[in-house]
Amino acid sequence: MSLLDDLRADLAELTDRAPRFFRAPGRVNLIGEHVDYGGGFVLPLAVDRETIVAAAPRDDRRIRIRSREHAEIAGFDLDELLPKPAHGWSDYPRGMTLALRRRFPLSGADLAVGTTIPIGAGLSSSAAFEIAVGLALASLAGRKLAPRELAHAAQEAENGFVGVRSGIMDPLACVFGVRGHALLIDCRSEAVTPVAIPAGAAIAIADSGVRHDLTAPTYNTRRAQSEEAARMLGVTALRDLSEAAFARDEARLPEVLRARARHAIGENARVPATADALRRGDLAEAGRLMNESHVSLRDDYEVSCAELDLLVETAQRVEGVYGARMTGGGFGGAIVVLLRDDRLEALTRALDAAFVARYGRTAPVTHLRAADGASAIE
Ligand code: GLA
Repeated sequence: MSLLDDLRADLAELTDRAPRFFRAPGRVNLIGEHVDYGGGFVLPLAVDRETIVAAAPRDDRRIRIRSREHAEIAGFDLDELLPKPAHGWSDYPRGMTLALRRRFPLSGADLAVGTTIPIGAGLSSSAAFEIAVGLALASLAGRKLAPRELAHAAQEAENGFVGVRSGIMDPLACVFGVRGHALLIDCRSEAVTPVAIPAGAAIAIADSGVRHDLTAPTYNTRRAQSEEAARMLGVTALRDLSEAAFARDEARLPEVLRARARHAIGENARVPATADALRRGDLAEAGRLMNESHVSLRDDYEVSCAELDLLVETAQRVEGVYGARMTGGGFGGAIVVLLRDDRLEALTRALDAAFVARYGRTAPVTHLRAADGASAIE
């Protein structure tokens, strides 16, 4: 049975009304890590793993949600929706509902949700969940939200409700994905430029199995440090400093903030350079920049961990691998690898051998293809 059939059956246990379906993809970030909240440049792609919501209207003001990932059914009343998180999976739809309710009146709904995105592996399962729910609720309310507005609502849900001060990268990648393309995003202007992934190249992730909790202080701490460094350097965001200007002023910063700023400024230069390399078909150069990004995240931004480092170093030694780095928020999650499309098996073998030898388990490798952004399923 397909996920659609499963969800149709799940929803039938809540209502006998016919469902409409909505999908929202996960994303993987090729390069541009921990710079979105500083208005910087990122290069993610929406991927062919997605969250699907089956939705049917209700005549009352209740929202009920069942998820294939969880046993209990979450429910809340649209008029009593408290602006307080419950600290569970239902925070994502609750937060999204609140964000939408600020924009237009909503109506009651029964929702069934399922996903093919591995949860917590750095593929942005949370943004996909929020956006799929957002598309469903907007459609049941008879509204059509512009993709950018949908992305803003999802970010509001994360920032104001779930409690992660995440940037705009994940929701923008989720709504603007283009099949076969990465997306060069300027996180200040929110301009999105698709960049074709050259023929013969493949993108894979390997999941370390270490689960990060973005609501833990570490992610928000990095963001606060990045903002503090910008303030001390007299700029709105680190994105506003060139590498030359930083070299002139970096002595003004205490050591830790200097390292955080060095990462952000270097990363903001590497992202457009990677996009250019992809446009030229120069995969070796794109991979080299990814490798550099990993070193910077490991040593200057300090968001990697031993498991990710082992995976990255192992991947980089495989013939036909152009580059590898940790991807997403870090402190666990996955690495992303850019490689020749006939080397996926070799990569899997090498990572399995190294990871089993050190940790007694594998780090599952998934081949990802760039997919289109969130949409209704007709
Ligand atoms: C998480 C956040 C994003 C971004 C990345 C790091 O995925 O949700 O906004 O900050 O971490 O690049």
